[in-house]
Amino acid sequence: MKKMLIAANWKSNKTKIEAKTWLDEVSKVSLPQSLEVVIFPPFTLLDFVSNYTRENDLPFKVGTQDISPFEQGPFTGEVNANQIKEFADYVLIGHSERRTNFGESNETINKKIERSLAGNLIPIVCVSNLDQINSLGSQELIIAYEPISAIRTGSPEDPSEVNSIANQIKSAAASRVIYGGSVNGENVRDYLNLNNISGVLVGGESLNPSSFNNILKNAF
Ligand code: PGA
Repeated sequence: MKKMLIAANWKSNKTKIEAKTWLDEVSKVSLPQSLEVVIFPPFTLLDFVSNYTRENDLPFKVGTQDISPFEQGPFTGEVNANQIKEFADYVLIGHSERRTNFGESNETINKKIERSLAGNLIPIVCVSNLDQINSLGSQELIIAYEPISAIRTGSPEDPSEVNSIANQIKSAAASRVIYGGSVNGENVRDYLNLNNISGVLVGGESLNPSSFNNILKNAF
């Protein structure tokens, strides 16, 4: 059976108290082996979330929402791969919010992929169209296909369209393709059932613990 990745991208949300409430609630759901849940908290909560999951022996993995394109050194404000590796195994790269709001170029995204692989982190590279796939290097990656029209809009992409694009992405660059964009507890199964999709990246609906639990319960 293929393992489904369920990723919770908290974006720029949550304080420590809020993260604790979320973890207390979400840890009540018992997860089957077929699901791999990865939480992407903001950097400020990495230590807390990774400690909480370790101390409570939870089957959650942790990832960051970004990574420095450089190694350690004089790069004010950046967090590098070695620093991330102390707390996390996964890294989100090239989210459309970073491409749009922070002007991330394909070149920077490729450097970030290189740094994460060199640091033994697993990159999940976000793309919103096939052109962005073509600008990536040749290595096999986990790709999150997230059409802009579906992110935070409540208008998820039609599952058959997602399956067809995911098929093209897989033949171009990916080992696994996950889907993101207005995923919720009601539609999660429609995406996980697709033969070219290996998981979902959830933004808005991952913030509230009961909405996220609903996604987890409907994912298996
Ligand atoms: P959304 O966000 O689930 O709120 O649409 C998805 C994402 O930005 O990864």
